[in-house]
Amino acid sequence: MDLIVKPLIPCGAALILAAAAGFSNGNSPDARLTAAPRHSIADVMKQAMKDGLLKKVAAGDASNDEQKKLVELLKALGENAPPRGTQESWSSKTAALVSAAEEVLQGREGAGEKLTKAADCRECHRTHKGL
Ligand code: HEC
Repeated sequence: MDLIVKPLIPCGAALILAAAAGFSNGNSPDARLTAAPRHSIADVMKQAMKDGLLKKVAAGDASNDEQKKLVELLKALGENAPPRGTQESWSSKTAALVSAAEEVLQGREGAGEKLTKAADCRECHRTHKGL
């Protein structure tokens, strides 16, 4: 009897844990905002900044999917804590990036220039990038 029951206990516990994890993850997008950022700062810098996605979106040359991807990346950027500088400054810079990218997605006039202005590499690096 002992031989059968013992392995069943950890197995059942694992199932319960898996169910609980699935439940908390699958709920609403809002629940994910309080979780770990979906992309690290380095990841967003590479995909959005260095590889030119933001430039393409700002120039009006990006597809709808690319515009959405940029919004997602920039939102994730704001979920991170900056390695340097105040959280307040970081939040306002990243929020400006998100709102400009969302305006491009909505097809607003002048949103591209706004996005380019918000993506001031040197300004943000001077304030927030670690040494
Ligand atoms: C809103 C602030 C902000 C803006 C705007 C910004 N960066 Fe960054 N960037 C950062 C921070 C913070 C880091 C440091 C990340 C770390 O140390 O984890 C960084 C790091 C980087 C890195 C190094 C990534 C790595 O692998 O560690 C590159 C490359 C980079 N940025 C490129 C750019 C370019 C190009 C632009 C402009 C088109 C830009 N960034 C605009 C905040 C910003």
